[in-house]
Amino acid sequence: MSFNSFGHVFRFSTWGESHGPAIGAIVDGCPPGLALSEADVQPWLDKRRPGTSRFTTQRQEPDQVRILSGVFDGQTTGTPISLMIENVDQRSKDYSDVANAYRPGHADYAYDAKYGFRDYRGGGRSSARETASRVAAGAVARLVIPEVRIRAYLVEVGGDAIDRAAYDDGAIDENPFFCPDRAAALRWEAIIDQARKAGSSVGAVVECVAEGVPAGWGAPLYAKLDSELASGMMSINAVKGVEIGDGFAAARLTGETNADPMRPGNDGKPVFLANHAGGIAGGIATGQPVIVRVALKPTSSILTPVETIGRDGAATDIRTKGRHDPCVGVRAAPVVEAMMALVLADQKLLNRAQIG
Ligand SMILES: Cc1cc2nc3c(=O)[nH]c(=O)nc-3n(C[C@H](O)[C@H](O)[C@H](O)COP(=O)(O)O)c2cc1C
Repeated sequence: MSFNSFGHVFRFSTWGESHGPAIGAIVDGCPPGLALSEADVQPWLDKRRPGTSRFTTQRQEPDQVRILSGVFDGQTTGTPISLMIENVDQRSKDYSDVANAYRPGHADYAYDAKYGFRDYRGGGRSSARETASRVAAGAVARLVIPEVRIRAYLVEVGGDAIDRAAYDDGAIDENPFFCPDRAAALRWEAIIDQARKAGSSVGAVVECVAEGVPAGWGAPLYAKLDSELASGMMSINAVKGVEIGDGFAAARLTGETNADPMRPGNDGKPVFLANHAGGIAGGIATGQPVIVRVALKPTSSILTPVETIGRDGAATDIRTKGRHDPCVGVRAAPVVEAMMALVLADQKLLNRAQIG
């Protein structure tokens, strides 16, 4: 009943708090015999790491991962893989105001209402520091699904969307926003700078595409690939919406425009002429790219005072000082990729369990 775990066959649990000595993940159910070292995990953590540009929080965490178990002679043994990341740049004094007043948009009030007690330093367990643990677990998941290529990028910041015609895969790693449209990346610099200077913040939309998912992964009804992805993505901090394929826009199409027409292909498999469904039908992959979009709310911690109440119930205002991401969506792209890998690795093993 504690809900710190995700997955069925490839199952991971995360542990740790923002200002504790360390955070980490335990991956259980990983097949044996996969080559795994810290060097397989570190590059993905480096992509999510804070403090790499002025557009992210200035908390300086090296996020060096250590593998404590589950690997022998450079290979996974099939036993639980324990991954640990030390917290080295905690500044608990930044959070003294938060001990006594609830930050709107954060989990402060909800945690107190549920547990009657909370680690207020940086949000404790509710902090997005937890997402580093998922990224580490996601790196292991990627080894289970080498046939799949996963790419996440931002398609919207502060209501400003990319031009789809300008999409360039090569641009994604060239700017601090994982933005595939170079002109949009320049506009986003100004949007985020302006928000930060105004003591405000902006939201974002991250799109994630998984290519190479074979037709047949997924399950009907209660473990639909759509619902597993939605559940995984919704569990990421600050995510308030998830769309698969055309998502909400599909409700505005007609049957014939929303169809993904098929024609015979050379190898006996169909050629799809469109992908409105985002690569999933009846909860099962069709073999087309799996496409998910997630909406991230604007950062709640802002310098502009917001009305709130204290633990004593009295009205007060709170300005959230400390170091924060002016747009949390920017650092969410590697987290969304990791969650896609974690869901797909689990689905691959589930499919193997039933179908062989
Ligand atoms: C990668 C990432 C970084 C985040 N950084 C911050 C931050 O610096 N400041 C902040 O107020 N919220 C940040 N958040 C969001 C909060 O963790 C989240 O809004 C809060 O815990 C409440 O949870 P909820 O939004 O999921 O309801 C971040 C989220 C993600 C995914």
